[in-house]
Amino acid sequence: MNYNGVKTMQDLFQREINYLRISITDRCNLRCIYCMPQEGVPLTNSILRFEEFEKIVRSAVGIGIRKVRLTGGEPLVRKGVIEFISRLAAIPEIDDLALTTNGILLADKAKALKEAGLTRVNLSLDTLRGDRFAEITRGGKLAEVLLGIKEAFVVGLEPVKVNMVVMKGFNDDEVLDFAGMTREFPIHIRFIELMPIGESDNWCKDRHIPVKEIKKMLDPLGKLERAKIGAGNGPARYFRLPGAPGTIGFISAISSHFCDSCNRLRLTSEGQLRLCLHSKTEVDLKTPLRQGASEEELAHIIAEAIKDKPRKHTMADEGWADNQRMMSQIGG
Ligand code: GTP
Ligand code: 5AD
Ligand code: SF4
Repeated sequence: MNYNGVKTMQDLFQREINYLRISITDRCNLRCIYCMPQEGVPLTNSILRFEEFEKIVRSAVGIGIRKVRLTGGEPLVRKGVIEFISRLAAIPEIDDLALTTNGILLADKAKALKEAGLTRVNLSLDTLRGDRFAEITRGGKLAEVLLGIKEAFVVGLEPVKVNMVVMKGFNDDEVLDFAGMTREFPIHIRFIELMPIGESDNWCKDRHIPVKEIKKMLDPLGKLERAKIGAGNGPARYFRLPGAPGTIGFISAISSHFCDSCNRLRLTSEGQLRLCLHSKTEVDLKTPLRQGASEEELAHIIAEAIKDKPRKHTMADEGWADNQRMMSQIGG
């Protein structure tokens, strides 16, 4: 595995690693019940500066990273994010620069994000009912997210994807409503299995619904056809209702592994490289960065770390738990 001058990087299982997800902040303006406690999580004061994230991205580009996604917490609450995006957009090797957001601040920022060079957005939205939205997010306003979605289309931050985490007894009765939206709009609705991470570690046990069951709930809508959508680097499998402009995706995070085709690395807000969402193993990039490591030296550390990327996660195994980090620190 020679990465010097090589444009793509494979791990030990012949997976091409070309996608970096960065949690640029662990702060969030919502408190979704499965993600954060009411009082929030203890925030770190040691998150990286944007120049530091940029240096890591440039190093990662040197070993084959071509797709970058900014996540959080909520990435749009961090001051300076638009300027940061314009700096990343200026890196010619990056062909997909995306953002995952809860949408609360999107209506205001969509135009500036597009102009800064952002390619597209994925939005988290677990219900289409205002009172429920306030309950699930502990106080959020649904109307702001809906405006954000509209604005994303207006400015062309497309394809627009919506993430709905399906939770028994909370929103599973809305699966048909979400799927129905794909008949009206060119939107991509992804149903996600609730994962036992951070706040939902134990909480998720009685609320988890496997994709197989979610698919069954869609039976009344008729047969789903396999679909492909242009931009997508993640684990969703897509389908389409006959003639619909939008698609329906499923992210079976637990019930079936998509680890064989995993193409990603994660960087926590504190500058720790995570080789898998569910692995506790992290490689410290912050210390060498602050000790003055060059881009080449950082690239070398990342390339070596990739050799330790696990073959698959063990989330479905009995006793699995990761209390070390919250989803908001890792970035989903
Ligand atoms: P696209 O490039 O648009 O396909 O993005 P994506 O689906 O990778 O990104 P997004 O941030 O919207 O994530 C959607 C859901 O997929 C979230 O719940 C993530 O936690 C989950 N997810 C993303 N990557 C992984 C992964 O490697 N493993 C698991 N188990 N879940 C993942
Ligand atoms: N299980 C599944 N998805 C989750 N997300 C956050 N926490 C969980 C969890 N425990 C989703 C958010 C967001 C994406 C980045 O991760 O809803 O859309
Ligand atoms: Fe914030 Fe996303 Fe966590 Fe909700 S799921 S509290 S929007 S980071």
